[in-house]
Amino acid sequence: MAVAMIEKRTKDGKVVQVIPGPILLLGAPGVGKGTQAKEIMAAWGIPQISTGDILRANIAGGTELGKKSKAIMDRGELVPDGLVNEMVADRLQQPDTANGYILDGFPRTLGQAKWLDSYLSAQYGALPVVAVSIKVGYTQLLRRITGRRSCPVCKSIYNIYLQPPKVDELCDLDGTPLTRRSDDTEEVFEERMRTYDSQTAPVVEHYRGLGRFEEVDGEQPVDAVAAAVMAAVLRLRG
Ligand code: AP5
Repeated sequence: MAVAMIEKRTKDGKVVQVIPGPILLLGAPGVGKGTQAKEIMAAWGIPQISTGDILRANIAGGTELGKKSKAIMDRGELVPDGLVNEMVADRLQQPDTANGYILDGFPRTLGQAKWLDSYLSAQYGALPVVAVSIKVGYTQLLRRITGRRSCPVCKSIYNIYLQPPKVDELCDLDGTPLTRRSDDTEEVFEERMRTYDSQTAPVVEHYRGLGRFEEVDGEQPVDAVAAAVMAAVLRLRG
């Protein structure tokens, strides 16, 4: 994996090294946060921290946190802030976060955003986040969610309509049968969208108001979205 430093060209043509720092990927269910986090991780060598993935790993592992979260997630609602903030605080202690990381699916409530802002301000002495919000229309989101499949081993993400594997229902990389998330039904998607509109859309406005925020059109091919997200981060890190 690449070293966690990225190159940026300044207005006068010089190339400077930039530390990626914390990057927030915001957006509704299915906009491509996980897909884009993996693109950035491969390009810049910083980890993806997906609260959804950590919660699902807890469910699979039968932990107390997993037991408390399963029914909430299957209804399309949010796990309580206190549990999620504690989980993120633990993850941010890991040494691989030193030069930056991508927060995917966190913060998702104003309570989580305020917790994160004060946690990072205390750690860095100033708020170092840059936030990129990905935008995709409702009909496309529904197709992305109901068509999503993922590899339980290597975590690659596919879509039976939009990004199908070479062989039906098998991972291109390791041949493992693909799985479908229990919350990826149309009914639960509708509830996740209601939750997003009422609780997470205000978080987008919170970071828009702080500046160091850009919006990207997510209805383009994956590599075009990735290029737009990374260009936005470089501008915001200026
Ligand atoms: P989480 O796992 O975070 O789900 P989400 O936010 O609903 O987002 P998704 O993972 O569904 O979508 P994504 O934007 O990552 O899209 P992806 O890249 O996979 O959360 C699940 C649940 O956990 C929550 O409902 C909640 O209960 C709980 N939770 C998590 N975090 C929490 C928190 N902070 N607080 C409280 N509770 C929390 O792409 C989707 C599909 O589209 C894929 O099939 C992909 O192949 C396809 N695709 C992606 N990009 C493109 C493209 N450009 N063109 C064509 N297809 C594309």
